[in-house]
Amino acid sequence: MADLADLKFCQELPKIELHAHLNGSLSDETLNKLLRRGPTNNSYASTIIGKGERRTMQEGFEMFRILHEIVVSPEIVVEVTKDVITDFALDQVKYLELRSTPRNVLSSGMTKRSYMEAVLTAIQRYREENEDRCRIDVRYLPSIDRSKSVEEAHETVKLAEEFSLSTNGNLVVGVDFSGNPHANDGADYIPPMMQARRANLHLAVHMAEVEGKKEETKKLLELLPDRIGHGTFISNEPGVRDVVLKKRIPLEVCVTSNIKTCTVPEDHTKHHFTWWRQEHQHPCIVGTDDKGIFATSLSNEYSIAAGALGLSRRETFNWSKEAIDHVFADIDTKSRLRQTWDDYWKSNLEVDT
Ligand code: IMP
Ligand code: ZN
Repeated sequence: MADLADLKFCQELPKIELHAHLNGSLSDETLNKLLRRGPTNNSYASTIIGKGERRTMQEGFEMFRILHEIVVSPEIVVEVTKDVITDFALDQVKYLELRSTPRNVLSSGMTKRSYMEAVLTAIQRYREENEDRCRIDVRYLPSIDRSKSVEEAHETVKLAEEFSLSTNGNLVVGVDFSGNPHANDGADYIPPMMQARRANLHLAVHMAEVEGKKEETKKLLELLPDRIGHGTFISNEPGVRDVVLKKRIPLEVCVTSNIKTCTVPEDHTKHHFTWWRQEHQHPCIVGTDDKGIFATSLSNEYSIAAGALGLSRRETFNWSKEAIDHVFADIDTKSRLRQTWDDYWKSNLEVDT
C-alpha cells in the first residue's frame, strides 16, 4: 500500500533518539579510522553483528570490552562523540539523548571526570561547528554500569549532579542504569539512583532485559523510573506489568538489538512492543541501543516497528512526534521540537493526507 511507512519515508521523518549507548553506536567508518592509527588486532573486526546474525548476550558484552580498548583517551571520546552525533543528525534525528559510562583508564590518565568533560565538550563543539546545518539537540545521560561496584555508581551520580549544575541543567539531564543484565543484583544500585533523583536528574533504567528477574524488576520499579530500557519480560509478569501500565512508564524499544542478542523471536510482529501498543496504546519509544554493533539506524528501527504494526505514514509521524513527550529536556526544548514536527507536517505530509 502506498500509504505505509517504508524505509525511505522513515529516513526523511524527523526523529527522536532516546536510547543510544555511545560506544555501541560507533559506525564502521569511525572504528576503522581509529584502527588505522594504532596497532590492529583481529578481534576488532568482530565488533559488528551483521545482517541476519545473532549473538548471545555474553558475546555482545565482549564486544563492548573490545570497543573500550579502543576508546581510551579524552581526545578519542571527543572525536567519537562528534562522529556519533553527526551520524544521528544525518539520519534526521532532531533530538538525541546519548548515554555513556564514564571510565578511568590508567594508561592514558583518563578519569571519569575527564571522560564526562570530553562528552560535553563534543556536544558543545558539534553545536558551534554546525550552527545552522544539521540542527540537533543533544543531551548526555551518564551511565551506571551494573557490572561495576555500587561505590563507582555513587561516584558517577555525584559527577552527573555536578555537571548538571555547571551546565544549568541543560546538558546532563538524567542517569542511565545499564550493563550486563546477568551481573550483580540490580536492586543494590537503588541508593545511587535515589541520590540522582534527589539531584533532580531523570532516570532511564534498563530492566527485565533477560528472563527470571521478577524480584529485581519489582524493586527497580519502586523507584518509578521515568523510562524503562527494553523491559522485554515485563509483559509476561502480571504483578510488574500492572505497575508499568498504571503509571504509564514509557518503554524504550530496540527491536534489532533484542533480536540479535536472542532475547525476542526473530519475527518483528512477535516483539513485546506490539502487545504494549496494540493492547494498551502504551507509550513506547523506538531506539537503536547500539547502532554500530547491531548494524542499524533509527530510520531502520522505525521502518521495522511501523511495519510490524502496519502503520500508515501519518500514524508513524504521530508516533515519532509522541516521543517528544518523554524527552528529559525542558519545556522550551519540547515546544521547539513540536514546532519542528508541525513544520515538517505542513511542508511534507499535509498535502498527501
Ligand atoms: P558506553 O557506556 O558508551 O561505553 O556504551 C557501552 C556500554 O553500554 C556497555 O558496556 C554496557 O554497559 C551498556 N550497554 C550497551 N548496550 C546495552 C544493552 O543492551 N543492555 C545493557 N547495557 C548495555
Ligand atoms: Zn541499552
